[in-house]
Amino acid sequence: VALATVDIPAGGTIVCTDQGYGAVRYAIERRARQCGAGIVTAGVPLDADDDAVVAAVAGAIDDRTAVVVVDQITSPTAMMFPIDRLVALCRDADVPVIVDGAHAPGLIDDPYAARPDFWTGNFHKWPCAPRGTAGLVVGERWRDRSFPPIVSFGDGLPYAERFDDQATVDYAPWLAAPIALDVLTEIDWPGIRAEWADKLDEYRDLVASVPGLQAVPLVSPAPTMRLLELPDGFLTSGPDFKAQRQRAVDEFGLELGFAVWQGRSFLRLSAHAYNQPRDYEILAERLPGLATW
Ligand SMILES: Cc1ncc(COP(=O)(O)O)c(C=O)c1O
Repeated sequence: VALATVDIPAGGTIVCTDQGYGAVRYAIERRARQCGAGIVTAGVPLDADDDAVVAAVAGAIDDRTAVVVVDQITSPTAMMFPIDRLVALCRDADVPVIVDGAHAPGLIDDPYAARPDFWTGNFHKWPCAPRGTAGLVVGERWRDRSFPPIVSFGDGLPYAERFDDQATVDYAPWLAAPIALDVLTEIDWPGIRAEWADKLDEYRDLVASVPGLQAVPLVSPAPTMRLLELPDGFLTSGPDFKAQRQRAVDEFGLELGFAVWQGRSFLRLSAHAYNQPRDYEILAERLPGLATW
């Protein structure tokens, strides 16, 4: 929706980073093809601090930039980007900015605070709402020309009703989402999250004691996610990737947050309210089995 709403002239560019989500990258590529636009990808290394992230994106913006797409929390690497500064940067450059906040609800208390032109986030991740529950906020200046990708009877309605009135769409997840958020408050998820944020390095290091695994210290990790690197070439992107995840389930009883980024193989640890220290001990006990793959 966001990419379809902004003006992208032929010869213009869409700026993104190399830490973006794969399917979002495909959306950028498709839109760029349709518009005859180019893509400028800012490289953000794993050891980047906030200044380096801002500098990388700033370096990719020039007078051809039509729109910038950035992550609030990166999917393959669990890095938190300084979204306030990135939005301010784009505002100064007079370029619209789309924020992919898929992981932000539940991890960042006010994920829309920076008021980007477009913000989207998932409620089926950390808030545990039913699968397929996502939010989109369109900045005021774009609302009149922002339309759902599928035409339905709600098409003539104003924003945001035309997004909500979509044929036979199942409203159950949307009805459940606010209840899921209430549950997070009831169980004091912000308090539990802060506790995990303090101790998760310790459990990451325990898992990193498995031969072949290496802890990847990030300057600003997502509060309850940590990154480990697997041996080079361990995972393959493409169709084999799903099979490798399934193999970990079948052989070790583990659902693992594998990721391939820049050809390198990673394991992303997460901690939610239902996790116990024992979960990470089990990981450390079973992961050596991966060495025999
Ligand atoms: C950063 C990021 N962007 C986008 C998505 C896509 O979300 P969905 O599959 O709900 O469209 C994900 C999902 O994991 C993600 O992590």
